[in-house]
Amino acid sequence: MPRIKLAKVEDVPEGGTMGVKAGGKYYLVSKMEGEINVFEGRCTHMKGPLRFGKVIDGSVKCPIHGARFDLRSGEVTKQVSIPLIGKAKDLKKYLFTIQDGEIFVKE
Ligand code: FES
Repeated sequence: MPRIKLAKVEDVPEGGTMGVKAGGKYYLVSKMEGEINVFEGRCTHMKGPLRFGKVIDGSVKCPIHGARFDLRSGEVTKQVSIPLIGKAKDLKKYLFTIQDGEIFVKE
């Protein structure tokens, strides 16, 4: 299983996110009370760039249609704000390791 280097733990803002493009994919790294998690970086609704999303109450809000995703579990906490254009699904979470202060995702 190849490992892809994403970021330094210290560079991810506490209570926030960092978008990383690596290995041809977008990832969203979050740090909530020191806990790191790694998610797919594009919204599950219509691929909105979650790296530009605001963090509200522990969730990231997609800048396109407003769906929100919990930054620990990846679960949808609020659905797409416009009816009839489909729904968002939970974000995929990636397994990762931290070595010497660096976050590596496993693909
Ligand atoms: S693309 Fe994210 S809510 Fe539509």
